[in-house]
Amino acid sequence: MEHALLLALRLAHVAGGVMWVGAAVLMAGFVVPAAREAEGFLPRLMRDRRAGLYLMATALTTILSGVAMYARMSALTDGAFGATSQGITLGIGGIAGVLALLTGAFGTGPAARRMGALGTRLRGESRAPTPDEARQMGRLRARVRWGTAASMLLLLTATACMAVWRYV
Ligand code: HEM
Repeated sequence: MEHALLLALRLAHVAGGVMWVGAAVLMAGFVVPAAREAEGFLPRLMRDRRAGLYLMATALTTILSGVAMYARMSALTDGAFGATSQGITLGIGGIAGVLALLTGAFGTGPAARRMGALGTRLRGESRAPTPDEARQMGRLRARVRWGTAASMLLLLTATACMAVWRYV
């Protein structure tokens, strides 16, 4: 039973991680830059096609299963695992993964949604942005750019730690 549960957690973790990181890299590297040429495409993708929900679900699956496996390793060693080089490597990767989710959920995601809403309003009213709205759009765009770069760096760190932890 213990073994079956561990297999299920590993399966959920690795599959979730592959789907989360793969989708995030595709979005940041290709979809978001290309979407600048197609107004309204990103809100449709994230909201109507539920890409935002997909990213959140895969991220949560990866993180929850990872935390459960880490907690099990800690419990089996009375907490000693966290102080080993393997435990520290997994810990750094785990924290990077959690920070990547928080950056997306509370930084990039809300900024992108507000950009989409402002763009939709301007298109609906068929007018150019006021100087104030243009400044706001610039600030939101910068937040999305920095948030995306930070998430990529954090996901890369998490993936690298997960790849090598067994051999350090
Ligand atoms: C970007 C996010 C993540 C990705 C892509 C990812 C990927 C992976 C992969 C591919 C493995 C298998 C490595 C191996 O067996 O040698 C693994 C193992 C593991 N990951 Fe993650 N992971 C991520 C986030 C996390 C988080 C947030 C935690 C929470 C602490 C975590 C905890 C673990 C643990 C404990 C193992 C070892 C499981 C075992 O062998 O029993 N991971 N991860």
